[in-house]
Amino acid sequence: MADNGSVNDDTKDENTSSLEIVNSELSTDELSREIQETLTLSQRHKFWETQPVGQFKDLNDTSMPEGPIEPPTAISEVKQEPYNLPNLYEWVTCDMNSEDTCAEVYNLLSNNYVEDDENMFRFNYSKEFLRWALHPPGYYKTWHIGVCVKSSKKLVAFITGIPARIRVRSDVVSMAEVNFLCVHKKLRSKRLAPVMIKEVTRRVHLENIWQAAYTAGVVLPTPITSCQYWHRSLNPKKLIDVGFSRLGPRMTMSRTLKLYKLPDLPVTPGFRKMELRDVPAVTRLLRAYLMQFVVAPDLDELDVEHWVLPKEGVVDSYVVESPENHTITDFCSFYTLPSSILGHPTHSILKAAYSYYNVSTKTPLVQLMNDALIVAKQKGFDVFNALDVMHNESFLKELKYGPGDGKLHYYLYNYRIKNILRPSELGLVLL
Ligand SMILES: CC(C)(COP(=O)(O)OP(=O)(O)OC[C@H]1O[C@@H](n2cnc3c(N)ncnc32)[C@H](O)[C@@H]1OP(=O)(O)O)[C@@H](O)C(=O)NCCC(=O)NCCS
Repeated sequence: MADNGSVNDDTKDENTSSLEIVNSELSTDELSREIQETLTLSQRHKFWETQPVGQFKDLNDTSMPEGPIEPPTAISEVKQEPYNLPNLYEWVTCDMNSEDTCAEVYNLLSNNYVEDDENMFRFNYSKEFLRWALHPPGYYKTWHIGVCVKSSKKLVAFITGIPARIRVRSDVVSMAEVNFLCVHKKLRSKRLAPVMIKEVTRRVHLENIWQAAYTAGVVLPTPITSCQYWHRSLNPKKLIDVGFSRLGPRMTMSRTLKLYKLPDLPVTPGFRKMELRDVPAVTRLLRAYLMQFVVAPDLDELDVEHWVLPKEGVVDSYVVESPENHTITDFCSFYTLPSSILGHPTHSILKAAYSYYNVSTKTPLVQLMNDALIVAKQKGFDVFNALDVMHNESFLKELKYGPGDGKLHYYLYNYRIKNILRPSELGLVLL
């Protein structure tokens, strides 16, 4: 899940929030204390306190070992039947290859998935995007889980897992990436989410997988890192019209348009769309780059072909091919995730690009990411979003991104990390 927040102040010259300063300068101990202090005593987690996840009370206890919290059990000991649902509801496995099922999932999410705090925008993942996100190499159909009303078969809740190899320091761990948890607005606060989380966990265990990675906008026990979204205006007029950003103090619309204006074409010689023949080179670049981070996916060529080869309206990737010797020296990518604009008289969709994985070895990262902005603008995106993960901090301010108002917390299930990480130590982007 990604944050759906808006820009704090679109035209700040100093694009720095106080939290940002805190994140880059505090020690990890201080960071974990900061998180603990945001929790009042009344904030108990009746469900999460029963799960094998890092608990708030243990945050400063460095004597606890890193790694799995609970050992795996024999698969024969995993509960064989699904968890009980309230009587009127039943489990369904959602076949996303079926046009009808995919449309039902799309409708549930487009009406009930993540909104910003002011309920102005709601994620509108496309059907093609959902199919792509849920069908990586080795995916399990049984991990695409719906809850529907027995009598009408109406889909009212959804949760998914996909398999992934995630490296934590030097250990590559088989995990599930859990995503798209959604309960229909009319069924909220009835403790359905914990049952869904337990059911996806059970089905993951049945495949002999014991760890998971997930993100949320809410603070749960306990984040491995807490990131922030930054937003780069591509179509400032529309962003201001729909309330995504505001005209800065002492700014006019024409000065704002000028501030965010971009060249018509990418400037780096050899910058071109990635092709199938680039998969081996891009895999090598990505693998070497991701080694620097404490937590990152372990990607092979099949993964790269699935996750980053351009897919119209879903994911865009570019390489820099050296004009001299034709080697691939740099790579950048972004995915397409529009948001519905709620209750606006003229605009209904915000076209947003989200920075995905980027690797620079020759082209300066700032220049590479400026070229990404240029092609995103050409393609009609209104805004380009990026988390402060990996080396992204090194280009955000320079390329006129402004900080968003929400946080995105990353979690691991059944895997303890000793100290909370800085966002720049994380090499993982979940969709
Ligand atoms: C997230 C959502 C499914 C939770 O359902 P709900 O009806 O609000 O909450 P329930 O009563 O069923 O369950 C509450 C429990 O789920 C946990 N929970 C809530 N959101 C969660 C999340 N995003 N991830 C994991 N657990 C979550 C709560 O912390 C609580 O457990 P706790 O008592 O241990 O703290 C629902 O609010 C929703 O669909 N929201 C819009 C989409 C969304 O935000 N999805 C999550 C994207 S990360």
